[in-house]
Amino acid sequence: MNDQKIKSAIISTDVELRSLVAKVVGEDDMGIVVGLEVVVPFHEINDSHLEQLRQLSPELIFLDVSDDPVMGLKFAQFLVEGAPNRRVVGMGEVLTPELLMQAMQAGVTEYLPAPVTVEKIQDTIDRLARKFGHRGVEERKREPGKLFAFFSPKGGAGSTSVATNTAVSLHILTRRRVLLVDLDLELGETALLLGVEPRFSFVDLVRNFHRVDAGLLASYIERHDSGVELLSAPFHPAKAETVTGDQIRQILHFLKQHYDYVIVDSSKSFTAPTLATFEQADGVFLVTNVDLPSLRNITRCLPLLERMGAVKEDDWLRILVNRYQPNAPITLKEIEKTLGIPVFWTLSNDFEAVMNSINQGKPIVLQEKTAYAKDLKGFVSALTGISGPSEDGKGLLDSIGRPLKKIFNRSDA
Ligand SMILES: Nc1ncnc2c1ncn2[C@@H]1O[C@H](COP(=O)(O)OP(=O)(O)OP(=O)(O)O)[C@@H](O)[C@H]1O
Ligand SMILES: [Mg+2]
Repeated sequence: MNDQKIKSAIISTDVELRSLVAKVVGEDDMGIVVGLEVVVPFHEINDSHLEQLRQLSPELIFLDVSDDPVMGLKFAQFLVEGAPNRRVVGMGEVLTPELLMQAMQAGVTEYLPAPVTVEKIQDTIDRLARKFGHRGVEERKREPGKLFAFFSPKGGAGSTSVATNTAVSLHILTRRRVLLVDLDLELGETALLLGVEPRFSFVDLVRNFHRVDAGLLASYIERHDSGVELLSAPFHPAKAETVTGDQIRQILHFLKQHYDYVIVDSSKSFTAPTLATFEQADGVFLVTNVDLPSLRNITRCLPLLERMGAVKEDDWLRILVNRYQPNAPITLKEIEKTLGIPVFWTLSNDFEAVMNSINQGKPIVLQEKTAYAKDLKGFVSALTGISGPSEDGKGLLDSIGRPLKKIFNRSDA
């Protein structure tokens, strides 16, 4: 039996369809990892997209042809010819008999006519998994994901900005499933920073936790265009009152079984839910600014955190200095001396970039190059041990190149 995950790609201009496929496919027990999403219409697919496909070399591709069925089926043929063991699952409008024949000739393994549902995708994957020689759902076991909590005992230190941008950057760097959880249940702002309007929140998950399964969990989660997923705080603070530490502990444990990374923006207060978050965390980042009130607050909560950290890994508790200015009157050495632990990373003071991003609802790491984005990406690389593409290298967002039609004749996808 094969224990490796099947690498897959999703090609569709339809954000809802992509989101649905990614949610079902990405379930931990499916044995499939989504390594790439191509979101442009066929006539905009270019060398850069093909290079990404070539590098990933997915065994499974979900290809939505509704944009242009004729061109889509030609692309399917191109993808299958590039790798004969590859399975292409077509999706889109009901095909005419002629097009259906063309799809079969192109080597499309299965075709899912609209509306594509969770059940249709799951059935297809189950059939394909057997062809790939993978274990059945029940047999499959996986390592739980890693949970990192961001906490600041002083308001406005930048914990929400760091947590949100870390989640986005982590997903882009690793292409793993990353869930951002907003546990600032009273006035959480992660949804605002991502520019999404969630329909449900953590509190809805708490209320229905007794009957939760992967499908119900997916319905509470909002997917950002970057691919990162969000479990938001409730819009109305009153809804937060009822959540207990036990509930947080159980839910975070459950979420770690479903995601590769869970990033938590914690509340400012040392309440039972915050302590339960620390208990579940594989790492806690204390976010601080370089000023005396911030450092004083950190010093006050360090003994408790260090007691909790005694049963964890050595580097469980790490310091992140935000709004760092190298010429500040208090130096990093002095901070380390005061706190008694080394500073893990610093993030530049970059008010304009951070404010613009908050106002536009677009994470800083997706914006133009800024000092903050560079530092943040460095932080995520240090956290994962994976280095990203060089700053001047061509990234995932590149979309200049030759139209697809001209590329059809090549065979190097
Ligand atoms: N590196 C930075 N440089 C400049 N300004 C920053 C930086 N990080 C955050 N800020 C600013 O600080 C403010 C607070 O940021 P953020 O909401 O991320 O902090 P927080 O710790 O989550 O705050 P809260 O206590 O409200 O939850 C924002 O207005 C943001 O513009
Ligand atoms: Mg905050």
